[in-house]
Amino acid sequence: GIAQIGVTGLAVMGRNLARNFARNGFTVAVHNRSWEKTASLVAEHGDEGTFVPSESVADFVASLERPRKVVVMVKAGAATDAVIDELVPFLEEGDIVVDAGNAHFPDTVRRENALRAQGLHFVGSGVSGGEEGALLGPSIMPGGTRESYASLGPILETIAAKVDGVPCCTYVGPDGAGHFVKMVHNGIEYADMQLIAEAYDLLKQGLGASAAEIGEIFAEWNTGDLESFLIEITADVLQHVDAATGSAFVDVVLDQAEQKGTGRWTVQNGLDLGVPITGIAEATFARALSGGVAQREAARGVLPAATTPWEVTDRDAFVEDVRLALYASKVVAYSQGFDQIAAASEQFGWDIDRGAMARIWRGGCIIRARFLNRITEAYERAPHLPLLLADEYFAGAVGNGVAAWRRIVAGAALHGVPTPAFSSSLAYYDGVRAERLPAALIQAQRDFFGAHTYRRTDRDGSFHTLWSGDRTEQDA
Ligand code: 6PG
Repeated sequence: GIAQIGVTGLAVMGRNLARNFARNGFTVAVHNRSWEKTASLVAEHGDEGTFVPSESVADFVASLERPRKVVVMVKAGAATDAVIDELVPFLEEGDIVVDAGNAHFPDTVRRENALRAQGLHFVGSGVSGGEEGALLGPSIMPGGTRESYASLGPILETIAAKVDGVPCCTYVGPDGAGHFVKMVHNGIEYADMQLIAEAYDLLKQGLGASAAEIGEIFAEWNTGDLESFLIEITADVLQHVDAATGSAFVDVVLDQAEQKGTGRWTVQNGLDLGVPITGIAEATFARALSGGVAQREAARGVLPAATTPWEVTDRDAFVEDVRLALYASKVVAYSQGFDQIAAASEQFGWDIDRGAMARIWRGGCIIRARFLNRITEAYERAPHLPLLLADEYFAGAVGNGVAAWRRIVAGAALHGVPTPAFSSSLAYYDGVRAERLPAALIQAQRDFFGAHTYRRTDRDGSFHTLWSGDRTEQDA
């Protein structure tokens, strides 16, 4: 074989990844279940580099240099298993199969085990950046063996986005680690999007501002600490006018958010690991609430609204308060997401470098943002930092905005503007910094009704009080 890398699955993401490899000088074997997609890729983009098209899986595999490197870019789930099953009989010891789709990480663990037993490397790799990222440089999060990364890594690093010359791709960790990190990336993406949406709603309801005016505010914010891809596209979307009606585009879009499942997986895993990823959870539930048509219909006009309209008098001060509250809530969401990565890394023995994850998210991906540099710096200062929010830089930045954050959340509650992500992030902030939590009462209740025992502040051990007897305390 002559091709250095192969791509099978040539829908828009696979097609763009294949073009990216070719444009970077790699000879790319290409294959798709139906030949038309392969043929049209070569017909339309053959001049961008060297493609080696094949109609059969056997020819496709035979066209690759050994150890073979095959990128599978098909729908997560059954389609991925089907393609792997078709490929494996043609592969030989040491060959590398890369799943670049949005697989659920337990599936990746299972596939990695199965392929390892056959002498093959299986690399579950997160790829973020949508269609454009795949073509021009995505953020890439590969898992699997270090051995596979030695030959595959340099190719992936070549096609990845670069920030200050540093590729947005690095080895993440064994088996499911790459897809796990991509999953959390998507959870954070949900939180980021929900926070931006709440900020938009606050500006709309507090100021009575138009979409275009709010778009200008976001464009302005994009020149400071909030600078990021999602803020940038928000400014653009809000200023877009619908051709059919002449209205602001956002005003003619149905207000029911959908999802393909990665946010839900992140929340399910947060529950499994016992990590309070409240920002991501509220963002995921907010999408569900928006889509709850029957419930919204039942509530509309029945549940009383707030009685006092929001009349903001100092426009500039309000805009700055919303900006500070958005930044603080965003720091909470990332801090929680990095806690989740740390917990999974510990649980599964992945040894994930969180600073490196922030570094490869600086470019290419959907959550790329200026402030990710700050996260990398925080983990460089303290690789085992227990709480990103408490890092000296972030504690200072959030501390600066906390009064504004409280004003916004209080105002939203008073005037009936739903801000689940802003509010729950502030509640998390106050919870995690509290000297003493009411959890003590929960422990006492548990012991009362179920003899579940409690620990004491003044001595070691576990205890139970004879609640329905003479109320003496026993060692448990
Ligand atoms: C990316 C995105 C992408 C994701 C969808 C959004 O990193 O490029 O996260 O992987 O699948 O864009 O997913 P939802 O349909 O769940 O919102």
